Amino acid sequence: MDTKTRQHIEEIFLQVSRAAIRKKLYGLRAEQDGDIQLARLFRAIAVSEEAQARRLLLQLRGRTGKNAENCQTAFAEEIPDLISRYEQAAETAESGGEKAMHFAFSQSARVQRKHLSLKKKLEKNRDMESTYHVCGFCGFVMEGNAPDNCPICSAPASRFQKV
Ligand SMILES: [Fe+2]
Repeated sequence: MDTKTRQHIEEIFLQVSRAAIRKKLYGLRAEQDGDIQLARLFRAIAVSEEAQARRLLLQLRGRTGKNAENCQTAFAEEIPDLISRYEQAAETAESGGEKAMHFAFSQSARVQRKHLSLKKKLEKNRDMESTYHVCGFCGFVMEGNAPDNCPICSAPASRFQKV
């Protein structure tokens, strides 16, 4: 693939990924304001933009590998990279007096560390069958039932989504 095309893919991937998340937030706002059809349209566009982002990512990375390779990439590379990125950002925010962002980055680092422990638990017991609940605010993943309040950000059980 030529360099210019690759650069376009990378740039548009970031742009469309960000746009998809924003559309979800716009959908929530429209719902809160009682404009249900507009909320549906924003959600539909969010799903569409997620599909577009996935398609671009496939072009960048090639097809996803076998489970073992994907686990290696996810749990030995991507997640540890994100943890250290969040931790560095938290430190910078703290020394810059950005309290809210220090808090947010630190919470996200803890959320990502939890993913590693969930994977370890799955490795120990490959026969386990359980659901996961994900906090819609901070992304904390809880195995089994949703907690009354998120242990990371204190969001109520109603914010948790079953996966
Ligand atoms: Fe949370």
